[in-house]
Amino acid sequence: MSRAFRNRIPFLLVGIAISALFFHTFPIVADSSEPSATLPTRRVLLEDSSYATKATSKPDVVRVPGGVKGRRKRIVVTGGAGFVGSHLVDRLIERGDSVIVIDNMFTGRKENVLHHLRNPNFELIRHDVVEPILLEVDQIYHLACPASPVHYKYNPVKTIKTNVMGTLNMLGLAKRINARFLLTSTSEVYGDPLQHPQVETYWGNVNPIGVRSCYDEGKRVAETLSMDYHRGAGIEVRIARIFNTYGPRMSIDDGRVVSNFVAQALRKEPMTVYGDGKQTRSFQFVSDLVILVFLPIVYTRYYCN
Ligand SMILES: NC(=O)c1ccc[n+]([C@@H]2O[C@H](COP(=O)([O-])OP(=O)(O)OC[C@H]3O[C@@H](n4cnc5c(N)ncnc54)[C@H](O)[C@@H]3O)[C@@H](O)[C@H]2O)c1
Repeated sequence: MSRAFRNRIPFLLVGIAISALFFHTFPIVADSSEPSATLPTRRVLLEDSSYATKATSKPDVVRVPGGVKGRRKRIVVTGGAGFVGSHLVDRLIERGDSVIVIDNMFTGRKENVLHHLRNPNFELIRHDVVEPILLEVDQIYHLACPASPVHYKYNPVKTIKTNVMGTLNMLGLAKRINARFLLTSTSEVYGDPLQHPQVETYWGNVNPIGVRSCYDEGKRVAETLSMDYHRGAGIEVRIARIFNTYGPRMSIDDGRVVSNFVAQALRKEPMTVYGDGKQTRSFQFVSDLVILVFLPIVYTRYYCN
């Protein structure tokens, strides 16, 4: 062994000791640029079928039934003082969840949620979803938007702002706090459909410049944003395309067919049928929507094998 090499041995030993200490303190971790292992497991209801079948040839969606009692959930319901929202709030409170309603009271009424105001598990915040808000919750039910033509045409720019900026704000919140997100969309996303009945794979026939487009196109953008947050940020998103819903607390003056019939019947007036009367519509009672649609799709986990 040469004298020069012998002199270097202490430096070599010190080098080995430093590297051992470094790798012990900072263990090698997976490259964070790789897709997260949990992302592909997240599924939504309205995926196109090609996306759903790409993952595996086995049955690829496993549904774990909801309804199993767990820890009290903290839930935000935007538009919770409105017709559908207030029924949803009733049901969530009944389940034992803790509910925060965000509503700007445009078409909502405090009376719809008055019976919860003394409940410590209930909170009502007067807030416009067009402005961001920061809350810590497990789930977000995003209903805020006037639903009847009379109301959404009243201020069309505000309607589209509510649908676009409001949904963006609530999705941003969902991403930040990793909350599950339900968007209440509408059968209006099919516009003036050329296919009856409409299936989820039908893309619709929508007029982008008509007087209803603030609502139709607004909801279509809201769906797009929801899917992009799902694909891009892994947010667990559910989209419910709601058809005509009726029941207690619906506004009698909203110009929709069921409320028109009921109002005319109560006033003992003839009931008005528009057009040739051959048109068809789908109707559902509000508790069926809440209990049979909203809760099962939110409380069911969708994931791949
Ligand atoms: N009722 C139906 O038949 C039906 C059909 C299709 C879709 N939907 C959808 O379901 C949801 C609820 O509908 P609904 O019938 O209960 O309507 P609604 O008008 O009774 O309720 C909407 C609620 O959202 C609130 N809101 C509106 N803009 C807001 C804003 N910018 N910020 C905060 N709150 C705001 C209103 O004050 C109201 O409380 C809506 O998103 C609607 O598009 C309803």
